[in-house]
Amino acid sequence: MLSDIIDVLADPVDGTDLSGADDFRRLVSESGHSYDVARQGYVTLAGGAGLRYTGDDMSMIDARETFLSRGHFAPFVEAVSVVVNDVLEDAGVPEDSSPVICEIGAGTGYYLAHTLDDVAGARGVGIDVSVPAAKHLAKCHPKVGAVVADAWARLPLRDASVDAVTVIFAPRNPAEFARVLKDGGEAVVLSADAGHLAELREPLGIIDVEPGKVERMIEQAEGYLVPVGQPQPVEFRMNLDQAAIAAQIGMSPSARHISAAELAERVAALPATMSVTARAMITRFRKA
Ligand SMILES: C[S@@+](CC[C@H](N)C(=O)[O-])C[C@H]1O[C@@H](n2cnc3c(N)ncnc32)[C@H](O)[C@@H]1O
Repeated sequence: MLSDIIDVLADPVDGTDLSGADDFRRLVSESGHSYDVARQGYVTLAGGAGLRYTGDDMSMIDARETFLSRGHFAPFVEAVSVVVNDVLEDAGVPEDSSPVICEIGAGTGYYLAHTLDDVAGARGVGIDVSVPAAKHLAKCHPKVGAVVADAWARLPLRDASVDAVTVIFAPRNPAEFARVLKDGGEAVVLSADAGHLAELREPLGIIDVEPGKVERMIEQAEGYLVPVGQPQPVEFRMNLDQAAIAAQIGMSPSARHISAAELAERVAALPATMSVTARAMITRFRKA
């Protein structure tokens, strides 16, 4: 709930501290700005210009929920949870300190909820620019506060307030991550790697992940974040039926480039089930 993370939130306009008003039906800043909490429990924290993006639409979020709820990406969620635990341990975060984990582009909250279940006393900030995602985030875990905000803008978070930022297949903002991380805090990034979903690329006409993606990400973070150790591959195989394949493509950027009818036709031409590679890299970053 937003009340669990209010000590972390800041006014997106001027960065002043936010607090709850009217029994958390509104958040108000020290400078007097007021942000209504939606009845579904999320709050939109956008600066003066409003939000420039809408993020994933409802059909993409529904497809994500369908796919993830079947556990096909369980090894990814497990890898993220293990690394976040390592980060907190390496930073010497005391177990009774209610650490704050913030996921950027958190989608349905699948990863954030699992990570919180794995870290005693942890609280979560789920940030996504998509309103359908925020509705899921608000109910994904009792200790998650859901915030609609743009990852490319100033994050509505206080300086040095977050123990770990997680980013799973979502946008990164190294300058802002460096600002909001506590000393010793880290950003944990899971990014798709070349070979991810390889068996589906040709039959479905979807593009592969470009090689060198992680190296470019590290270059782009220069001056703000530096990698901790080597990026680690996470690779496994999934047995996917046609419904799961349709959901996987429906939740990905490819959904924006292939019409639903065309996708259905291509999926129907696949075998009833396929063994498909999942491959990503997990990279830890600390402040430069
Ligand atoms: C590929 S999905 C990943 C969702 C989630 N991390 C997961 O793996 O299940 C990318 C997410 O980033 C969100 N997103 C895209 N652009 C964004 C932005 N500028 N700011 C915040 N979120 C954004 C989308 O709405 C979507 O929920």
